[in-house]
Amino acid sequence: MPDLIIKNARIVLPDGIVEGGIVIEGGRIKELRKTSNLPDSGEVIDAKGNHVLPGLIDAHVHFREPGASSKEDWKTGSSAAASGGIATVLDMPNTEPPTTTLENLEKKRRIASSKSVVDYGFHFGASNENMKELNSLAGGVASIKYYLGPTTGNLMINNDAIFYEGLRVLANKGILATTHAENAEMIEYFTEKLQKDGREDPIAYADSRPPICAADAANRAIFLAGLSNCRLHLCHVSTSLEVLLIEKHRKSQQLTAEATPHHLFLKREDFKKLGTYAKTNPPLRNKEDRKALWNGITIGAIDIIASDHAPHLPESRERGIWNSSAGVPGVETLLPLLLNEVNKRTLSLEKVVRLTAENPAKIFRIKNKGMIAEGYDADLTIVDMNEEFTVKNENLFTKCGWSPFDGYKLRGKPIKTLVRGKVIFEQGYINEIPGMEVSYV
Ligand code: DOR
Ligand code: ZN
Ligand code: ZN
Repeated sequence: MPDLIIKNARIVLPDGIVEGGIVIEGGRIKELRKTSNLPDSGEVIDAKGNHVLPGLIDAHVHFREPGASSKEDWKTGSSAAASGGIATVLDMPNTEPPTTTLENLEKKRRIASSKSVVDYGFHFGASNENMKELNSLAGGVASIKYYLGPTTGNLMINNDAIFYEGLRVLANKGILATTHAENAEMIEYFTEKLQKDGREDPIAYADSRPPICAADAANRAIFLAGLSNCRLHLCHVSTSLEVLLIEKHRKSQQLTAEATPHHLFLKREDFKKLGTYAKTNPPLRNKEDRKALWNGITIGAIDIIASDHAPHLPESRERGIWNSSAGVPGVETLLPLLLNEVNKRTLSLEKVVRLTAENPAKIFRIKNKGMIAEGYDADLTIVDMNEEFTVKNENLFTKCGWSPFDGYKLRGKPIKTLVRGKVIFEQGYINEIPGMEVSYV
């Protein structure tokens, strides 16, 4: 007898939506059948005609542990993820200590394994000093992350030779490189100039990191990765210039790209309403850039949407625009924002699934995840496309307690999240079943 069946579901497959049921055994999807044809089972979930998506994979989160657990920890971060329909997260290395040695990676592994309710993987950080670690790495991570510009933490590569050498090492091992692409010298120059001019208004921050900073660094990363034959994934693409570059190069080299909900749904003008709470790296852009990102999604230049969930406490946002922390939380609003677009008919549910489950699984080579198919992990997100709700800071699971989308009225909501056949989120509650580290193919 199967462990669990899900009946009366609208199952979202890569190329269409089918009505039926899912048979689950040993945490895996055994088969899909018509609801009238389902076997008996110990446990039954009636999806009541709601849509069932493959559990989402958020390929870019900052869960802050070790080092800054007052902002977020693996329990609150993973609960926030689960409540947002996300079954797997990939955590970034700019923690304290940073994930730049095998020892620090093990330390983070131990924390995540004892606290995470969703499955997880790790991006490993490249630093100016850790070439030896990169050389000894035998996989087991989602990517090697290169910070080409300054942001939260001190992880920054400030020498292109080190970047280039690293890319060649990764190419040999078949490991993916990911980048935070912003030009550090340009940022320094523009920041000094604006500060000398006495600019203190929040929008000055966007001007201190104009589109050319991101585009120039992305251009360099694409060039060096192309020469090295290294697979490259550009995190948080935010400008029309980057979309053009991706378009130009993605046919001749292994290049993928990501956009964040804040760059897709917010814009420069939001600094007026959000003040320092809109501060993020790369910064919010103008309408034209935002439009280019949506177009990038349509034409396939943007492969995935990831939250770049970067929680910071409100007190660190009350220090003026130059000294406030940068980054916005987003792990629990990512899917609702996209479902709302589906309801507005600007995006199909199949496309949402490709951007947030199927493509992340492919790009980061995550084993048995990202699709509803026989043999895959039974990571499933049940969504009610008709539920209307308002995003409210007080309802969030994230420890930082705020969202730039507070007050947004949305239609479409995750109502249940399953990881390997176990319900970890339903009706506002988290079942604390431990998550596991993903494997890579
Ligand atoms: O705004 C940002 N915040 N951008 C990043 O790249 C890092 C992140 C953080 O960790 O706070
Ligand atoms: Zn970044
Ligand atoms: Zn990030």
